[in-house]
Amino acid sequence: MAHLFNRNILLGISGGIAAYKSAELVRQLRERGATVRVIMTRGAREFITPLTLQALSGNPVHTELLDTEAELGMSHIELARWADLLLIAPATADLLARLASGRADDLLTTVALATAAPLLLAPAMNQQMWRDPATAANMDTLRSRGCQVVGPASGEQACGDVGPGRMEDPQAIAAAAAGLFENGLLAGKRVVITAGPTREALDPVRYISNHSSGKMGYALAQAAIDAGAQTTLVSGPVNLAAPSHARLLPVESASQMLDQCLQLLPECDIFIACAAVADYRPASVEQQKIKKGPEQITLQLVRNPDIVATVAASEPRPFTVGFAAETTALLAHAQDKMLRKGLDMIVANDVSDRSIGFNSDNNEATVLWPGGEQALPLTGKGAMARMIVELIAKRLDSQ
Ligand code: C5P
Repeated sequence: MAHLFNRNILLGISGGIAAYKSAELVRQLRERGATVRVIMTRGAREFITPLTLQALSGNPVHTELLDTEAELGMSHIELARWADLLLIAPATADLLARLASGRADDLLTTVALATAAPLLLAPAMNQQMWRDPATAANMDTLRSRGCQVVGPASGEQACGDVGPGRMEDPQAIAAAAAGLFENGLLAGKRVVITAGPTREALDPVRYISNHSSGKMGYALAQAAIDAGAQTTLVSGPVNLAAPSHARLLPVESASQMLDQCLQLLPECDIFIACAAVADYRPASVEQQKIKKGPEQITLQLVRNPDIVATVAASEPRPFTVGFAAETTALLAHAQDKMLRKGLDMIVANDVSDRSIGFNSDNNEATVLWPGGEQALPLTGKGAMARMIVELIAKRLDSQ
């Protein structure tokens, strides 16, 4: 069974009789490991109560666009960024029409426009409404924009008609949602990812480190697994669960991270350096705890090895990707770093913006490679990781 661990599924429910099946769908999605938030249209609330969906999803249900209090809790833009997938089930004829024409006249259609996440539709309506040329044209439009569709199934309908238009079974919809995250882009490839901070010991109880959360590296590991890669995470200390199916190799210092990475090199096709490696470490590690003494003490630091540059200079070398966190002249500095470290690709982040990068759940970046670049819009780190993996697969293909 394809899983949905670490996935944020935003479930949109519109107003059709099949809305009662959405309660079971929430259960199915959670059973596969997803975190679920629900948006209900006004029509949906005529068929099933927000309380039911709140109890089943374990999260407050979102219903209004123009509600100051709701916007304070989680704004429509935050919801749009939070989602790894927007799943609309049931998607009524009216909702399909509003999506196809790009309307943003309620919370659900607004979030559909505002999200960079993929959209999966489970249409449900009377068979004649489904067959109507207007609905067919709307479906063509939505498919041409890249929307994925599951169902509808055929059979007896709530209104007594028989034909296509029944919402697909919740189990089949949950399976389709999970299947969307699995692609064969890196099938059979061996990917090594460094993540998190390093800790450079001063004495047995103290260290120098940084605020890296590891979220981006762990999201990349999940995206690599979904792309079919055999994935190893070489991770500094973080408070995150490794994606299931990832091999986790915990390390502390930059030197340990380098040793571990070099050991993995013979079995590595793609190396992604996402770790915030400490540039310096104490020149010597005291064997005993340093005692409080003089008003001032001086620490002598020495440069750490550059892990990604060492990997990129090794022979044979994997396809090597680095990150560049910059506060000024983002692209120029990133380009320079890519050349200096001998990388095949670099992901450039502007860290002067506190809403992205370190510790944040969101990220915005520009990916550079020799002879090209692509801007990636502000989005959740999960969606960002999938875009980076797609670009890596494309570059590998073109080599
Ligand atoms: O030079 P700077 O630290 O800005 O470079 C960032 C990139 O280099 C990141 O990909 C980071 O993981 C990697 N790096 C490394 N070893 C170091 C320092 C940085 O692999 N000692």
